[in-house]
Amino acid sequence: MAGKQTFTMIKPSTFSANHTGAILKMINEAGFTLKAMKITKLSAEQAGAFYEVHKERPFYADLVQFMSSGPIVAAVLEKENAVEDYRKLIGATNPANAAEGTIRKLFAINLQENAVHGSDSDENAIIESDFFFSKTERF
Ligand code: CMP
Repeated sequence: MAGKQTFTMIKPSTFSANHTGAILKMINEAGFTLKAMKITKLSAEQAGAFYEVHKERPFYADLVQFMSSGPIVAAVLEKENAVEDYRKLIGATNPANAAEGTIRKLFAINLQENAVHGSDSDENAIIESDFFFSKTERF
């Protein structure tokens, strides 16, 4: 299903602030269908593995600590052109640069606590979805 699916996570501070319902509403209203979803909590090891591509970056240790600090919502979303369209819906990684009306503009606290993660390529959408979901957890 390359090209039609993307992966998202609602980050710990956004989940604990009770923004999950509002974000899922925006996702559905933008035309995405939920294919899989769960609330879970990452261990530091799991968060480190998920963000391994950023291992050499100065923010990696803080990011791993934050992403393992509380529950997150993980989901697989489906729509034509899913990766690109979802990145438009969430806005720029740094919320200071996020467009009006985007998820990050509305709900992000700062660059790290930027409300949600969204896959940056079809290849990573598959890797990230497989990280969280087995075949029997997808619909
Ligand atoms: P995310 O889309 O989850 O992917 C990597 C995360 O690293 C990013 O969102 C931010 O939460 C975090 N991060 C912290 N500092 C930076 C930075 N300088 N550049 C990019 N990402 C950063």
